[in-house]
Amino acid sequence: MHTRIRTFEEYQTAYQQSVENPEAFWGALAEQFIWQKKWDKVLDWNFEEPKVQWFVNGKLNITENALDRHLKERGNKLAIIWEPNDPKERFVRLTYRELHEQVCKAANMLKAQGVKKGDRVVIYMPMIPELAISVLACARMGAVHSVVFAGFSSSSLADRINDAQAYAVITSDGLYRGAKEIPVKRVVDEALEHCPSVKRVIVKERVGWKPRMMEGRDVSWEAEIEKADKNCPAEVMDAEDMLFILYTSGSTGKPKGVVHTCGGYMVYTDYTFRNVFQYEESDIYWCTADIGWVTGHSYIVYGPLLAGATTLMFEGVPTWPDAGRFWQVVDKHNVNTFYTAPTAIRSLMAAGTDHVLSYSLDSLKILGSVGEPINEEAWHWYHIHVGKEKCPIVDTWWQTETGGILISNLAGVTPHKPAHATLPLPGIQPVLLTAEGKEITENEEEGLLCMKFPWPGMLRTTYGDHERCRQTYFSSFKGLYFTGDGARRDEHGNYRIIGRVDDVINVSGHRFGTAEIENAINQCIHVAESAVVGYPHEIKGQGIYAYVITREPITNEENLRGEILEAVVKEIGKIARPDKIQFVSGLPKTRSGKIMRRILRKIAEGDTSSLGDTSTLLDPNVVDEIKAGAIH
Ligand code: WTA
Repeated sequence: MHTRIRTFEEYQTAYQQSVENPEAFWGALAEQFIWQKKWDKVLDWNFEEPKVQWFVNGKLNITENALDRHLKERGNKLAIIWEPNDPKERFVRLTYRELHEQVCKAANMLKAQGVKKGDRVVIYMPMIPELAISVLACARMGAVHSVVFAGFSSSSLADRINDAQAYAVITSDGLYRGAKEIPVKRVVDEALEHCPSVKRVIVKERVGWKPRMMEGRDVSWEAEIEKADKNCPAEVMDAEDMLFILYTSGSTGKPKGVVHTCGGYMVYTDYTFRNVFQYEESDIYWCTADIGWVTGHSYIVYGPLLAGATTLMFEGVPTWPDAGRFWQVVDKHNVNTFYTAPTAIRSLMAAGTDHVLSYSLDSLKILGSVGEPINEEAWHWYHIHVGKEKCPIVDTWWQTETGGILISNLAGVTPHKPAHATLPLPGIQPVLLTAEGKEITENEEEGLLCMKFPWPGMLRTTYGDHERCRQTYFSSFKGLYFTGDGARRDEHGNYRIIGRVDDVINVSGHRFGTAEIENAINQCIHVAESAVVGYPHEIKGQGIYAYVITREPITNEENLRGEILEAVVKEIGKIARPDKIQFVSGLPKTRSGKIMRRILRKIAEGDTSSLGDTSTLLDPNVVDEIKAGAIH
């Protein structure tokens, strides 16, 4: 079994084998890893409960495979290059040996703080090396990490901590983001007023502020790591033990904790990393995501390290000190593979091509895109100005729930096609369905994207609520995993992802449920009701459009707008702030009280020609009023 596909024919063969005999296919790929005990059975599954188990009864530790396994041959190879926010600050390089030692020490530090196997540890930190080290330290000693993006508000953080019933939080004093300094520990302190499960907070110094430390609860990373031994045997984990929980938004309710387990996730992230990016031993690989999102988990930390790659971690933002920062970093570290989000490409494109033209970018071989559909204009700009028309672009479609990439071209091996994620990876069996659940076999028809067979990296449950997992992903169509995305397939079998078909909006590659944002807006005392929809946004992909009904006549619109924005920042975080707020006297509702979002979406898009039949609405007049006041 080859771990790496090198030709189109090999792709076809691998795909064929993976469908004909999935257990043999994945079993052979799993052989390359260190297993403390081999599995009894490769796969046990049904999508009804759902129950999905890979490498049943296998025992392993993912860090033994991501670190120890490389020490002999790659001990002095760079594992992590860390580029700070400020280009004038010194960058950091960690070899596999150094990373191994730091992870072992951090794992011992966690143990000394009373963290036990199976305990949940929430990590709320900037993109500094200690974030990756914390993630791996949890995995090393068997704790379940749950990383929360450090842009979420204290209230979001508290919800996640409470849902996970976390025992400990790892954080920092503050963080740098572009020209800003942001207090991180203060957000944690606020959150912890509502989180009785948390017994320990470990604080890494980044900014040099001396945050208030609560006696008996808060300890300093620097002081504790000093005391920790550098030997830490890898905890023996069952293949199906939890590795991590990552919270993500859906169409209803609060964000849910997507659960990934040790064995399958390891095999899948390694395989997809090597193949999609056609990884070579000497490559310098850079994924610009934050480890707070799934892309960072799978393709900054686990996938690259499992493959023995050098992975670059970047603390800063694409536009500071100027819009050339990404390209400056590429040249500085001779990056070969560069993986980013369409929203970043569009914002750099808008800043002008001069920035990119001032750098050589000679080292680049492969480019990648993730998180949202990439429009053709951005694709071509990326291809021409960044890739100099010589770098294949992998358009990788996947989700927090899928653990790794499901649909993508393999760089230079299977063809790229602008705005198309293209072909399913080996092991992935997509189907397109009509809303009634009928399979679409014709080409170029839009349908609902589902998967009919499990893959090793898929979610196992949603933390603490298995029924919610079943409901959300496995109940729409019997025997299938439903992605929530719409897609089309061309005559060559290439998939084009259209976007979400549920009430999830994708803003700059970040997922939010419209209900989640509405709940935040409704916290405002002057707000009676609200409805949120997404609309096409030039840079962000989708923008947030909020229709708001106030309790009493509006006296000061600007103040009210400010209050609404503040409520969203407080409940969720700055990243979920509505772009447009329209005050309305009513919402288009059916006689049963259901909001007709389709109409609101059309109006937000500025397309009022085809609103469909509005005569069945409770109050058809409200549509004219909303149309007249729409913000464009
Ligand atoms: C969207 C991010 C088009 C999609 C890895 C999916 C994409 C959601 C692509 C998951 C892509 C992700 N082309 N759309 N290449 N990649 N999406 O969980 O709607 O943050 O359902 O995972 O992003 O977002 P999530």
